[in-house]
Amino acid sequence: MLIWWKDYFMRTKKIFVTGAMGFIGLHWCKKLLSEGHKVYGLDIKNHNTEIKKNKNFFFFRESVFNYDLVKRLVKKTDITCHFAGIASPKEYLINTTKVINLTVNPSLKIVDYCKKYKKKLFFTSTSEIYGKSKEVPFLEEGNRLLGSTSVKRWCYSTSKALVEHSIFANLKKKSSFVIFRLFNVYGPGLEGRVVDIFIKNAIKNKNLNIFGNGSQKRCFLYIDDCIEIFYEIFKKKSLPNEVINIGNNVSTSVQNLAKKIIKISNSNSKIVRQSKRKISQMKSKGYEDILLRVPSLQKLHKMVSYRPKYNLQNGLKKYLNSIK
Ligand SMILES: NC(=O)c1ccc[n+]([C@@H]2O[C@H](COP(=O)([O-])OP(=O)(O)OC[C@H]3O[C@@H](n4cnc5c(N)ncnc54)[C@H](O)[C@@H]3O)[C@@H](O)[C@H]2O)c1
Repeated sequence: MLIWWKDYFMRTKKIFVTGAMGFIGLHWCKKLLSEGHKVYGLDIKNHNTEIKKNKNFFFFRESVFNYDLVKRLVKKTDITCHFAGIASPKEYLINTTKVINLTVNPSLKIVDYCKKYKKKLFFTSTSEIYGKSKEVPFLEEGNRLLGSTSVKRWCYSTSKALVEHSIFANLKKKSSFVIFRLFNVYGPGLEGRVVDIFIKNAIKNKNLNIFGNGSQKRCFLYIDDCIEIFYEIFKKKSLPNEVINIGNNVSTSVQNLAKKIIKISNSNSKIVRQSKRKISQMKSKGYEDILLRVPSLQKLHKMVSYRPKYNLQNGLKKYLNSIK
């Protein structure tokens, strides 16, 4: 009897993953396949050939703007994991319109489809939601503090927040969901973000450029830990209908991160502060760095028993070994 119930709740599921070829999407698809589920992955990129050999993986090289296809896949599957998006801070300043369009429009459609077909939703939001709030550690229900809408930098935070609002407004009674606010997840496959840029430059003995004096602090979570947390929540009978911070609460300065990476990779790279001219150029374009970002993990720890296995040192070593 016990085994029957276990089979019932753990039965193979069909999962639709947008952004399936991205950093988090690909790790997530691999985990789901390794647990025996069927995965329907969608992405405009098509770089991983290995995963496509898996008979339970169905890949669509398509855009999330193909609403007919997205609608069909939401309907056909048990849960939609909407990860497609832009996560590189450089883009907020250069491609503001694209960031807003991609973050908001397909997401609102997906929320609609989940509501219509009563399907579950995983949505990846961001620590950027808290903006420059000084209320550290950031509680999920805490205040957000953002700059003016004339400053491009805030477009990503605002766009993700709009999607969060839509999820809360539409799904609570119709379907179950979870919104993850991710805090600097890193590991193999990451592109265009601080850990990835430092590691790749360190391997080539190139300079590691830091903004200002590098005292800005961040918390880093290794991808394997992030995926285990996702999976523990995924396995629950129903999703919590909540927003949850996903991260590590040990903060490290960017300067310290650079030093660690140089040491671990035995590199001759130098840490170089960006010139005052470059900094003022970036500021004039609307860039504003956040000095301290730490998640509160109270809510997460009440919800899941899994605790991260990697500290920054071990995580960086594993990441480095994977790309050497
Ligand atoms: N990695 C982090 O630490 C972090 C932090 C905060 C939020 N997030 C969020 O998590 C999600 C995944 O981030 P990631 O780090 O894997 O980024 P990523 O850039 O590696 O992956 C995003 C994927 O989305 C795909 N994509 C872009 N436009 C698309 C479109 N029109 N149609 C279909 N696919 C499209 C890209 O090709 C890419 O494969 C994003 O929504 C991001 O905002 C990530």
